[in-house]
Amino acid sequence: MKKTVGIILGSLRKDSFSKRTAKEVVKLFPEGFETIWLKLGDLPIYNQDYDDNPPMEWTAFREEVKSADSILFVTPEYNRSIPPVLKNALDIASRPYGKNVWDGKPGAVICISPGKIGGFGVGQVLRQTTAFLNIPMLSRPEMYLGNITELLDKSGGIFDTDTQKFLRDFVDAYVEWVEKFV
Ligand SMILES: Cc1cc2nc3c(=O)[nH]c(=O)nc-3n(C[C@H](O)[C@H](O)[C@H](O)COP(=O)(O)O)c2cc1C
Repeated sequence: MKKTVGIILGSLRKDSFSKRTAKEVVKLFPEGFETIWLKLGDLPIYNQDYDDNPPMEWTAFREEVKSADSILFVTPEYNRSIPPVLKNALDIASRPYGKNVWDGKPGAVICISPGKIGGFGVGQVLRQTTAFLNIPMLSRPEMYLGNITELLDKSGGIFDTDTQKFLRDFVDAYVEWVEKFV
């Protein structure tokens, strides 16, 4: 059976650089792996009052997360931290208490930024949360794609060959990481 990688974007923007990057990355997974897009955009904001009677969007999202063997985050940083749409999704699928559906799914993160620091902040803050949720994260290679606007061509592809190789090495390492767990 194929191993499923759930792709989670930290941006809802139509022309998102994270989305364009992720579209390139999904092409790099080998035979035996399939990728699915976990959709966060329609999730009502988490409110603990609804734990006993959750909106159907929360339930559907939790089921989607359950169906993935592993989780790959591709995200920008917002004010050096996790974009709210992503934090909301992390919170929703972590609850109700004791029913954290992220539990044990091997993860990795690709941070993107038009700036030079490359989204270092979101990578660090995300790791704090994923550690608590028991998502074992790939440590190396770390993937901070700074100056992202200079790396993508007009059709959305990554044209820089060093970056292409970097992404291939990253996916190879992540595949190896997932295979240790799944
Ligand atoms: C509310 C907000 C906060 C931001 N904070 C940061 C930041 O801390 N560091 C950074 O590099 N870029 C920051 N940016 C710029 C984003 O990296 C940029 O808008 C990027 O294109 C968003 O990712 P996307 O293209 O996938 O939508 C911020 C953008 C917004 C809207």
